[in-house]
Amino acid sequence: MDRQAIEKAARHLRPLMPTPPKIGLILGSGLGVLADEIEEAVRIPYEEIPGFPVSTVEGHAGRLVYGRLEGASVVAMQGRLHYYEGYSLQEVTFPVRVMKALGVRELIVTNAAGGINEWFQPGDFMIISDHINLLGTNPLIGPNDPELGPRFPDMTEAYSRRLRELAKETAARLGVRVHEGVYVSNTGPSYETPAEIRMIRTLGGDAVGMSTVPEVIVARHGGIEVLGISCISNMAAGMSDAPLHHDEVVETAERVKTDFLRFVKAIVAEMAKSK
Ligand code: HPA
Repeated sequence: MDRQAIEKAARHLRPLMPTPPKIGLILGSGLGVLADEIEEAVRIPYEEIPGFPVSTVEGHAGRLVYGRLEGASVVAMQGRLHYYEGYSLQEVTFPVRVMKALGVRELIVTNAAGGINEWFQPGDFMIISDHINLLGTNPLIGPNDPELGPRFPDMTEAYSRRLRELAKETAARLGVRVHEGVYVSNTGPSYETPAEIRMIRTLGGDAVGMSTVPEVIVARHGGIEVLGISCISNMAAGMSDAPLHHDEVVETAERVKTDFLRFVKAIVAEMAKSK
């Protein structure tokens, strides 16, 4: 990854961010509303940031939202980039590199995911305990810049134990229903087949989605502490007779919006206190 490109983007953004952001947020499908809660917000469309991937077919990709949330200085990606859109994994993860250059030390990654664990119901949250990368590739493939991180980064605790405990305590206090489990990444854009879901269940997956893993690998490479939260938007293919449709993903996210906002804001408040 090109350090000069990262630094160029960071140089563009720093003057817009009086207090360097400590917490980064990546907001998944239907969960972008959280960025609207940010106070004293500065909103920067991706296309205005040098080196940020420009959107392809989809129209506009999204924007960075900087400001204060629960007293913490944060920067959020409202709209993420997906591998299935045709971006390279280096492009998908470039914003994480820039967040790190801006000062981000902790990252909350959210997504909508299909539930595989039969105890799960649409609308539940899952704190990600670990992941399985089924993308068949890795964003760190290519020359390694040791200034950005080690050649062979450890992934033993990709999802911070400390932040998982903090999130579980917060959920209990708020009365929000959460599980903990393993997130499996599929490239998409087609949903999985029922046979693939049976395979993923056998492999130890609890939820499946089309994002998150690349950003988490790059965050860990850069030494950022990560918390991952999935919103179980539907049960995965073959778990029920219903065909899968993106509308269901969006509808579930809409339904749980209030709880999601309460939950993540309370986590941010705790994180701001604990560091
Ligand atoms: N599979 C993959 N990605 C998803 C799903 C799913 O069932 N639901 C939301 N994102």
